[in-house]
Amino acid sequence: MVGHSSRGRKRVWMMMVLWISFLTLLCCCFTEAENTELDRIERCQTKCSQGLSCRTKADYWFPPACLEHLDHLNTSVFHNVSVSPVMTCAGKQKCKLNLRVKAVLELSEFIHGLSICTVSAGMMRNCQKIVFTKTSRTKLSGLLVRVDNDCTEISPSQQVQVTIKTIPDYCGTQWTSNYHPLGCMMEDLRRNVPECITGRLSYNTNLEKNELQINVSDMLEDHTYHLRLCHKDDYICAGTGDSTQIEKEQPVKSAVLRYTRPLPCLCIEGWSAVVDAPRVRVCPFQDRLEELWLGITFDPLEEALLWEPACPVNAVAALCEKKVDGTCVDLPEASQNVSRGKLKFAKVDPRPQLCMKFTIGSQSWVRCPFRDGIKAWDFVVTNKQGHRDVQLVSQIPATFSVGFCGRSANSTCQDNARSSVQVLKANNPTLIGKACNSCLQVKRQDVKYAANVVHCFDYCSQESRDLTWIVLPAAVCLTGIIIVNLVLHLLLTVYQRRKKERERKQTDSKVNCVASTMPTVRGSLFITDPPQCRINERANLISK
Ligand SMILES: *[C@@H]1O[C@H](CO)[C@@H](O)[C@H](O)[C@H]1NC(C)=O
Ligand SMILES: *[C@@H]1O[C@H](CO)[C@@H](O)[C@H](O)[C@H]1NC(C)=O
Ligand SMILES: *[C@@H]1O[C@H](CO)[C@@H](O)[C@H](O)[C@H]1NC(C)=O
Ligand SMILES: *[C@@H]1O[C@H](CO)[C@@H](O)[C@H](O)[C@H]1NC(C)=O
Ligand SMILES: *[C@@H]1O[C@H](CO)[C@@H](O)[C@H](O)[C@H]1NC(C)=O
Repeated sequence: MVGHSSRGRKRVWMMMVLWISFLTLLCCCFTEAENTELDRIERCQTKCSQGLSCRTKADYWFPPACLEHLDHLNTSVFHNVSVSPVMTCAGKQKCKLNLRVKAVLELSEFIHGLSICTVSAGMMRNCQKIVFTKTSRTKLSGLLVRVDNDCTEISPSQQVQVTIKTIPDYCGTQWTSNYHPLGCMMEDLRRNVPECITGRLSYNTNLEKNELQINVSDMLEDHTYHLRLCHKDDYICAGTGDSTQIEKEQPVKSAVLRYTRPLPCLCIEGWSAVVDAPRVRVCPFQDRLEELWLGITFDPLEEALLWEPACPVNAVAALCEKKVDGTCVDLPEASQNVSRGKLKFAKVDPRPQLCMKFTIGSQSWVRCPFRDGIKAWDFVVTNKQGHRDVQLVSQIPATFSVGFCGRSANSTCQDNARSSVQVLKANNPTLIGKACNSCLQVKRQDVKYAANVVHCFDYCSQESRDLTWIVLPAAVCLTGIIIVNLVLHLLLTVYQRRKKERERKQTDSKVNCVASTMPTVRGSLFITDPPQCRINERANLISK
């Protein structure tokens, strides 16, 4: 029966806590609902069933040992015991929490009264002793009687053990239960019990000035109020920023605090200037996670990428390679779990394509620390007569894997199409190849993490102009030859029949004439190497 009622109480308590936190989160304009208000008592008292006269006596510090109970006494003396909180208030913000104990017991002439004791960790035993008069207990012997008492003061946040014993104390008859108090989350307590009064904070942010304008309400009256900024770390909030106080005389309970960065773990903490005052804490930027992914640094000596979370955060940090289409593809085996410590990716090739990706759940943020900064190496292109020379210039001795593959930035270079290039001397250009109409792919090999840098070259401009210059007259020439051949063929057929030598001589001289207008060089170039011309034509179309 006891277990059942305590489970029920727990459920009600949990529901209340959830409800209150929900309302507190939503707004600070919570109006007290009836069911969340505790019963108020003017003054504590003991009440006994009608006919049973009882009085409360001074408690005793050390209860005597229990008596072996008599045969005629039933061990289940206490039938129904309930424990609930009530409040006794001496004015605004001057309420105290009391425990109301209602016990139903089976009276016998051997029971002279009962004691209600509470004990909590580190606290003295606190007892109420209730005794019945001899006449009344004899009269009601064998009947169920009720005893109510609400004189036990409790703290709003400390668990207490409640023990009810008979007087004299017969062994095995006592009733014991643990009582979990409501805690200061309950609105009624937060407003009225000084131990629970934290004040309420509302704020406006000024992102340009890095300022928080804070208003305080419902604070402990006639006390100075403290405000500070702190960085939350699981349970504690470490004060590492601005702080101020609102004097009790100040009519407008308002203050301004300055912060350096709008971090998700930055909180405003407020409390009254009393010993052990409870504190209220609000964290204005808790959703601004993107603020955490700043401050990635590079150590050029160690070639290490470093980052430290400004707030404790559970995330995964990985290195990735930014592609032309904007996606960032994870590098293999380049992911680390982040919680609070410093993160280090050693041996990284600094390139604008190399980025860091932070992931929390399904959300990701990509930050590219080299986007407009350091490059350990680069390639230099020199236009030569009809081609381009590509040279690699590295600020440090390094090894590269180089390939000229494909014609689009996303074509992959097979391993056998790549060669290894070693740059032994810093800042010494090393020729790695000629590039026209192909994509250069370079990746550093002497580091652990490197991006594959792709650069595509179109036609070498001079060469392509030359080709156009050749192709056009050649086409004209070809057309000319075809027409002339057709005409020749036609004439030949007609005049062969007539077999007139004079006319045939005339035609021969025409052919010679046509042939002589076609320079043999061009003709032979065209005829001996037609596939090249055709390929070039098609390639021109593709590149346009
Ligand atoms: C003790 O009380 C219980 C419940 O009231 C009852 O069932 C039981 O018979 C009683 N025992 C004695 C010895 O009186
Ligand atoms: C126990 O007390 C509660 C409330 O005080 C009451 O509702 C319930 O009926 C009582 N049970 C018994 C068996 O007396
Ligand atoms: C704070 O109080 C001032 C004046 O009482 C008011 O103008 C301002 O809007 C309040 N700010 C917030 C965040 O409640
Ligand atoms: C990160 O943490 C998860 C879960 O705790 C674990 O499964 C995973 O192996 C860790 N990854 C690394 C790189 O440590
Ligand atoms: C390469 O990119 C082009 C567009 O940029 C796309 O049409 C093509 O499918 C891609 N090829 C591969 C192999 O990803």
